[in-house]
Amino acid sequence: MKYLICNLKANKKKDELIKYEKELSSINKSSNIELIVCPSTPFLFLFQNENYELGSQDLSKFNEGPYTGENTAEQLSSLNVRYALIGHSERRIYFHEEEETIIEKIKRAYHSHIRPIYFIGETKEEKNNNQTYKTLEKQIAHIINEVPDYKREKMILVYEPVWAIGTGEVPNYDEMSETIMFIKKIVNAYYGLSLPVLYGGSVNETNIEKLSSIQEIDGLILGESSKNVQIIQDIYNIYQKNI
Ligand code: PGA
Repeated sequence: MKYLICNLKANKKKDELIKYEKELSSINKSSNIELIVCPSTPFLFLFQNENYELGSQDLSKFNEGPYTGENTAEQLSSLNVRYALIGHSERRIYFHEEEETIIEKIKRAYHSHIRPIYFIGETKEEKNNNQTYKTLEKQIAHIINEVPDYKREKMILVYEPVWAIGTGEVPNYDEMSETIMFIKKIVNAYYGLSLPVLYGGSVNETNIEKLSSIQEIDGLILGESSKNVQIIQDIYNIYQKNI
């Protein structure tokens, strides 16, 4: 099974999303690529079609209670959310999300039967200093250690270099394939797990042909490219053809 995840971020208003959802509901799909859409939280209720799975872009580290402005995993689950993006670098950078918080969120997700999609990736500086593997290893070890053994296998990892998000830059393809294999190798060596590892960062119609031919990648995340359903369809078709 491969994954194609649409991270709409804080884009689009109600009317635009009603139209978007209608188009997404009639996208042509196959059974071997799971399509997951992650709209902004207030609009999750508009996305209730069986043609795709629903994901949230975040969730609260708290359970229900006096936490103004928060959306709990239980609430999201009641809106049919089955996946949640957790630890995206935009959350780490703009909302100062630390690993302790990320761990709480992952636990909340599991508790409400939501599959966590956990993001890892190096900054440009770390890359330039040859710290990529060290960074990834640290980001993985801290998190997985905290997740109870029996739940670990439901986790999905995303390798998303911070410098590749929204920049049009992607890692060199050989390097990308080696990095994905490195992630799989350490997850297996440390935890005896084989988790899906996805790639994200500037995936578009131009690089999809090449990206989809890298067999080690178990799925892709679209940010900017997810704003247009026709582009999603085009990317989906090429992905489908190449796997
Ligand atoms: P991008 O974003 O495709 O616009 O680079 C991807 C992401 O942040 O998940």
